[in-house]
Amino acid sequence: MTEQKATNISWHAGEIGKAEREQFLGQKGIVIWYTGLSGSGKSTLAHGVEEKLFEKGHLCYVLDGDNIRHGLNKNLGFSPQDRTENIRRIGEVARLFADAGLITMTAFISPYRADRQIARELLKDGEFIEIYVKVPLEVAEQRDTKGLYKKARAGEIKEFTGISAPYEEPLNPEMVIDTAELSLQESVAKVISHLVNAGIISTD
Ligand code: ADX
Repeated sequence: MTEQKATNISWHAGEIGKAEREQFLGQKGIVIWYTGLSGSGKSTLAHGVEEKLFEKGHLCYVLDGDNIRHGLNKNLGFSPQDRTENIRRIGEVARLFADAGLITMTAFISPYRADRQIARELLKDGEFIEIYVKVPLEVAEQRDTKGLYKKARAGEIKEFTGISAPYEEPLNPEMVIDTAELSLQESVAKVISHLVNAGIISTD
């Protein structure tokens, strides 16, 4: 549990609430939480879904691991503690974005179940959709889009997820997308149809 350090603070809610913003935008403010190994395709899928939703007139925002680590979380590394803090902050930011009415997507390895659970608990039931972007380690390693697996195998990167640091698979994710089996187009279509079935967006 993160310590509450500030005292004498109170929550201020304005007259315009989440429901008004959702009505304004014609969508539900939710979090789609992509989790999976580096190179599994989380960011690619999130941006693919964003493009499709944008075409349909929806406002989204993708919070992406590598980008956030350049700014908000630049003081965090890859120790278990730092990853936990990384995910805690992202969970809070994602909650704010969802409260703003946006379809918020996060693309972080988020290797620990307990950390993802904390992020989930910040949202109401149905507002947090966990998508396990599943790929065999061998496939991610073969893709090695950023050349990091090679470095990790050579011992140049310590605590690398899947090689020298753990990845805890989700036990009950809302969706599993196997990017070794499905094309990007198929994966995007699968996510969109889930959103329609869950009443997050309409069919038109
Ligand atoms: S998380 O574990 O804290 O969720 P996050 O998604 O923010 O990780 O960042 C992962 C990205 O950082 C990877 O895609 C990769 O580009 C880079 N990276 C650098 N070092 C490591 C490492 N030791 N383990 C995993 N990813 C790393």
